[in-house]
Amino acid sequence: MPNAERIMQRCDRLARESESASGLTRVFLSPQHRAASDLVLGWMREAGMRAERDAIGNTVGRYEGAHAGSSCLMLGSHLDTVRDAGRYDGMLGVVTAIECVGALAEKGERLPFAIEVVGFGDEEGVRFGTTMLGSRAIAGGLDPAVLGARDADGVSIEQALRHFGLDPARCSLLRRRKGDVLAYVELHIEQGPVLEAESLPVGVVSAINGFSRLRARIRGMAGHAGTVPMRLRRDALAAAAECVLAVERIARSDPELVGTVGRIEAKPGAINVIPGEVEFTIDIRAPRDDLRQLAVASAKAELASIAARRSLACEVELIQELGVTHCAPSLMVQLERAVAAAGVRVRKLPSGAGHDGQAMSALTDIAMLFVRCKGGISHNPAESITAADAAVGARTLLRFIEHFEPALR
Ligand code: GLV
Ligand code: MN
Ligand code: MN
Repeated sequence: MPNAERIMQRCDRLARESESASGLTRVFLSPQHRAASDLVLGWMREAGMRAERDAIGNTVGRYEGAHAGSSCLMLGSHLDTVRDAGRYDGMLGVVTAIECVGALAEKGERLPFAIEVVGFGDEEGVRFGTTMLGSRAIAGGLDPAVLGARDADGVSIEQALRHFGLDPARCSLLRRRKGDVLAYVELHIEQGPVLEAESLPVGVVSAINGFSRLRARIRGMAGHAGTVPMRLRRDALAAAAECVLAVERIARSDPELVGTVGRIEAKPGAINVIPGEVEFTIDIRAPRDDLRQLAVASAKAELASIAARRSLACEVELIQELGVTHCAPSLMVQLERAVAAAGVRVRKLPSGAGHDGQAMSALTDIAMLFVRCKGGISHNPAESITAADAAVGARTLLRFIEHFEPALR
């Protein structure tokens, strides 16, 4: 049986690999990423897997099936975090998958397929703005031009990979062939309140909402905060404040939409200087692609009109977008059976958060199992789950693995 206490302890252990002394922040290709990956490599090997880091910094373990070299069932989640993160978003899925493989290895059980567990290096996209680099490399959706994206210090992904000891030229070799990966299944905390409200430890994901990530730049004129009369100013930050409220208004126009300005930077950034330039991010999501695309178009139009009224220049750049990703019905049914076998009422629910499955769906069928989290709180240090729920999640995942039947192709 998977050991839930060990799952909780390993999430606690990984949470210590943080760039900040208090709280948890671990971004892609950082020294903390390496430390977390090294820990996970060790746990994978202990669980009977062959394990190594791949060229884009994913941590990958493989447990052979009855016949060496068979196609695999891929499990996993991500090892990077947001800033001031909780300790389960991502890590729970990696650690639980390893625990399930360990349980199989202990019984000496080999299945008709191999199992691979992946700790993706970048799902959150915090460092470089662009997300799911690890899963996109495996699924074949990584345009090599993306490796030119730069972090806040001007370091490109390509440079960061080299500095990490990896060879960027090898990233294109990570692409798996269709058929080599029979399915991708991820266990993750719900990050929302539904399971808790219904007193359920786990739930089966039906689909992952689509997202658009944008970057807006407003250019006005920097000047002296004491001398330039208000009517002559071209203040980029005052305009951005209007833009933030416009995004909020648009997102509030439909209960299925959400919109967030999560990061804003004003330059030159001094108390006595009128801000001349502002850059901010916009994240818009919805369970329907047409609704999301309409909201993105409205946001762009609103920003342009706010900037024009204030005689400012405004550019909006689409960083990344992915449509709604549906979980494969045949996998959902298998997860539902495993949930029912754990004595839990089957609840299907969509995911408002993004996940690597969105990228993996270009390669193979995907499915997800959600585990209840306290208050639905996530992307926050207060993220919390119980060992009892971790146990139900692990038992359910193990049962799913042991009864897994790939779709007929
Ligand atoms: C990742 O957690 C995301 O949904 O942005
Ligand atoms: Mn997250
Ligand atoms: Mn996550």
